[in-house]
Amino acid sequence: MSFDIESFGLKMQQKKQFIESCLDTVLSKDDCFPPLIHQAMRYAVFNGGKRLRPIMVLEGGKIAGVDGEAVEMIACAIEMIHSYSLVHDDLPAMDDDDLRRGKPTCHKVFGEANAILTGDALLTAAFQVIAEVGKLPGVDAVRLLRVIGDIACAAGSEGMIGGQVMDLNSEYLNEEQHLETLHLLKTGALFKASLRAGAILGGLDEADILALTKYANHFGLAFQITDDILDVNGDPSLIGKPVGSDEKNLKVTYTTRFGLNGARKLAQQEVKTCLQSLESFGKEADFLRKLAEFSLYRTN
Ligand code: IPE
Ligand code: IPE
Ligand code: MG
Ligand code: MG
Ligand code: MG
Repeated sequence: MSFDIESFGLKMQQKKQFIESCLDTVLSKDDCFPPLIHQAMRYAVFNGGKRLRPIMVLEGGKIAGVDGEAVEMIACAIEMIHSYSLVHDDLPAMDDDDLRRGKPTCHKVFGEANAILTGDALLTAAFQVIAEVGKLPGVDAVRLLRVIGDIACAAGSEGMIGGQVMDLNSEYLNEEQHLETLHLLKTGALFKASLRAGAILGGLDEADILALTKYANHFGLAFQITDDILDVNGDPSLIGKPVGSDEKNLKVTYTTRFGLNGARKLAQQEVKTCLQSLESFGKEADFLRKLAEFSLYRTN
């Protein structure tokens, strides 16, 4: 497989910049009272994230033929939820990491208690942003309610939080299947909600929403398998987080279970399934096709 990572990287960069300008509008300013929490929220969000989830919201919308403020705000809300999850993930009680996206983690700069509150505030603010979407002209309230339910479910105890709980409590990890469930929840759930959000808001038909759901699940697996590989052999100056965090925390990962080569093969299989699930789409899904391949070649 040959993949032009440079030209795809450039496209990603443009999309990332656009998302960041939307996030800047949506997030409370640094001097908003009390400034400490708003500075910490911005610190946790504006720090070199790849913005994959918001990009997926926009792509789902594009496939459903919708763009503009409504999808952009939902994209921001999901990135805020993702950023909160990273702030908490890095805390001493969880992965105890000092570096995130190339900078000291939120708790290293603002202290542990403030970092907990920063995560809480980002999660809460995300739903406030989504509520604002309901006030925009032309937004279908029933579709929006479905999106809200979807995002809440993906972020909650049967989604991302469920995955984090599995990750931190090794009794869940005795069987191979459980590792897949962990990844589907911890990482896949939010990708799934992202891609579905734009598609649902744009009124895509159910069969196509299901196809995108399948893509996102397998994308999440490929992405997290690569995350596990990068935790072993990544370049810390590129990935912006410490290498060896999983080993330090005695995590069962795709690399501990299958070895580096086994994990690479599994990631490739997942990408194949991603591509298969897009077969009913035309050129409008080309970016998602490339994004799936990118998940194998990414270095950060
Ligand atoms: C990191 O996600 C956490 C995982 C779910 C693997 P990303 O790799 O998307 O992190 P950022 O947003 O680009 O920093
Ligand atoms: C974090 O997974 C996933 C969530 C925050 C939901 P990891 O612990 O593997 O992520 P990194 O490696 O710290 O980015
Ligand atoms: Mg973790
Ligand atoms: Mg971690
Ligand atoms: Mg990891």
